[in-house]
Amino acid sequence: MKLNVNGRDLETDAAPDTPLLWVLRDHLNLTGTKFGCGAALCGACTVHLDGAPVRSCVTPASAAEGRRVTTIEGLSADRSHAVQRAWLELDVPQCGYCQSGQIMSAVALLASNPSPSDADIDAAMAGNICRCGTYPRIRKAIHRAAQLAREGGAS
Ligand code: FES
Ligand code: FES
Repeated sequence: MKLNVNGRDLETDAAPDTPLLWVLRDHLNLTGTKFGCGAALCGACTVHLDGAPVRSCVTPASAAEGRRVTTIEGLSADRSHAVQRAWLELDVPQCGYCQSGQIMSAVALLASNPSPSDADIDAAMAGNICRCGTYPRIRKAIHRAAQLAREGGAS
């Protein structure tokens, strides 16, 4: 299969029905995307296909052919994306395991809604589970990222 991941054209000999998560992690060595439940229930494996968030644990890699795949590694080369900066500023992660999925969902939310309300955030982020309970900081960081993007930062 030929895939476009984080702006690069790549080839993999993985079987087409391999979940995209495992192609990213095991074949392309992009280990920022995490395995949690394997059943589309936790959001840890969230990546973007053409800018929309998908659960890569239940997405066959063949579904990504001809589309743009973006992982946490592809948001910026230097952590300069507004969401990354907000996450760092507010020290959002605790154990960190869920956070790349949280960030990818937050980026997709802000792309479609640059000034989300608390209710918008809660609705968009409901599928991303955090065992450490970082939800209040996630919500604050999304508001902060929206502000940073409005001020002209990378988004
Ligand atoms: S690992 Fe994909 S949603 Fe949990
Ligand atoms: S920071 Fe630990 S699971 Fe979310």
